[in-house]
Amino acid sequence: MIDLLRFVTCGSVDDGKSTLIGRLLHDCAALFEDQLATLAADSKAVGTQGGAIDFALLVDGLAAEREQGITIDVAYRYFSTSRRRFIVADAPGHVEYTRNMVTGASTADAAVLIVDVRHGVAEQTRRHAWIAHLLGVRQMIVAVTKMDLVGHDAARFAEVEREIADVFAGLGRASGLVVPVSGLTGDQVARRGAGMPWYAGPTLIEALEAVPVDSAAAAERPLRLPVQMAVRPTPDFRGAAGMIASGRIAPGDEVVVLPWGAATRIAEMRIGDRLLNGVEAGQSVTVTLADAVACGRGDTIVAADALPEVADRFEATLVWLDAAPLLPGRAYRLQLASQSVTAWVQPPKYEISVTSRERLAAKTLGMNAIGVVEIATDTPIVFEPYADSRVMGGFILIDPATEATVACGMLHFALRRTHNLQWQAIDVTREAHAQAKGQRAAVIWLTGLSGSGKSTIANLVERKLHALGRHTFLLDGDNIRHGLSRDLGFTDADRVENIRRVGEVARLMADAGLIVIASFISPFRAERAMVRAMLPQGEFIEVFVDTPLAEAERRDPKGLYAKARAGELANFTGIDSPYEAPEMPDVRIDTTAMSAEKAAEMVVALILDSFRDG
Ligand code: ADX
Repeated sequence: MIDLLRFVTCGSVDDGKSTLIGRLLHDCAALFEDQLATLAADSKAVGTQGGAIDFALLVDGLAAEREQGITIDVAYRYFSTSRRRFIVADAPGHVEYTRNMVTGASTADAAVLIVDVRHGVAEQTRRHAWIAHLLGVRQMIVAVTKMDLVGHDAARFAEVEREIADVFAGLGRASGLVVPVSGLTGDQVARRGAGMPWYAGPTLIEALEAVPVDSAAAAERPLRLPVQMAVRPTPDFRGAAGMIASGRIAPGDEVVVLPWGAATRIAEMRIGDRLLNGVEAGQSVTVTLADAVACGRGDTIVAADALPEVADRFEATLVWLDAAPLLPGRAYRLQLASQSVTAWVQPPKYEISVTSRERLAAKTLGMNAIGVVEIATDTPIVFEPYADSRVMGGFILIDPATEATVACGMLHFALRRTHNLQWQAIDVTREAHAQAKGQRAAVIWLTGLSGSGKSTIANLVERKLHALGRHTFLLDGDNIRHGLSRDLGFTDADRVENIRRVGEVARLMADAGLIVIASFISPFRAERAMVRAMLPQGEFIEVFVDTPLAEAERRDPKGLYAKARAGELANFTGIDSPYEAPEMPDVRIDTTAMSAEKAAEMVVALILDSFRDG
């Protein structure tokens, strides 16, 4: 089987990129239907395996990416020569170049940077070279286009070649191959042509045919097999399927299943129904293990003599893809190879200017921004630095509220900071705490607009429970903001952090056996879901104090709506800051139809009821 090279082209239409790609497709053989079908099948097997956004999308890149909630203008084209098959990701250089390039370059073996010979190296060339470098594209080839328009002038080409050498030197890497081409005549694209007898180097196609494919290099590294799924067609067949990220496997190899660390050996391997004696990086296999160790989706089978790191705190470079900026403190889903965990991002250490590569101070990252951040995950993950393995070091972040891919990232290294911090086993359990108080713990969480009546209802609920001899505590937005959250304002990021803190405090109080009543606007679904997830099933009771904006504004108990309308108060919920109403609250209170007294009675009745059931 002839191998497959993935490359990305970077440049704008004016650089002669379209003509060049048109020429490649015209002068080489287009792939046939059946070859495309095999490619499609291969890429499906890859699944979401690739670290960043991967070529599972290659068959209909655009449609698939739209489904993911981001529109990326990358077109994939296929062609072949007698030596190789090629997939070219055509990333438009104009708007949104960062996202387009990241998508195209994250799984590319090579990048073809396009430079118009008349203009020489442009600002854009520097950006493209840097992003390709950042994404670990090992081979860069520069096509100096439109040679016919300068009369195939060797001296002009030599000038441009020197400028290009400077760009690569600035990145600290060896100069890539520079090929003078004419898309129009086809000279030096797929055939030598007559126009540039002074050029002795390879044609663009020869250069692309000579690029080593990443998976070949990956085969030389230690075994990493991210498990996509457990395969158990019969009870005595215990298999695991996935695509080998690096290394090779043969029957009898000693392996460890991470992150939990069970050691065993490979019993046998299959691709489809075929039993094999050896497989390597890039192939999708089903393996069976010699011992009955647990091994399922999200686990990684690794070489026993070369273990990767397992950690839950990292430094990484993030490329932000979403229109909504990074919210430090929000619980995102991080996907790395087949692993999927909850992750929190710290405010950036710095942003890196895409144009000057300078470090800039930043509180967040907006669309197309690139920055260095620290990330914490709720469960340890198996990884390698991105520089060593794109599959084991590349990841994406998904916002669980919208399911959109909001960022892709490249892990640098693990932070040891928390390694000496362990959970202290406590003898008096949370159940014992609650029992001593003769009750069950709960967090009654009231959410709603400012002025909706949360505090009034929360107060009544606490008074009633207290009168019934229950042990309670009330956490209220305004009060917390005088102490614990004194340093926070009302930006989205500050609200996320406020609710994170309150959630932690509410959890501790519930651990102490208390019935906690929390009254916060808590405008975002994601953070309310996060607090719910912090507590045992059934212990979080979401009460939506549903007062229409017009009514809350009419009541305006603190005069804040008036101020916000007058422009004296920025980021006011409902005016110029969003409120995401609960979709399925445990209790909904329509304050226009029910008194606070009745509402409180209803909540208390529900609590006491749920205690009886449990
Ligand atoms: S939250 O969004 O982080 O949950 P929280 O409930 O703690 O907000 O605080 C809301 C209270 O702060 C409001 O009841 C109001 O009194 C006051 N406040 C001051 N500025 C704002 C603002 N811009 N938006 C909303 N509430 C504000």
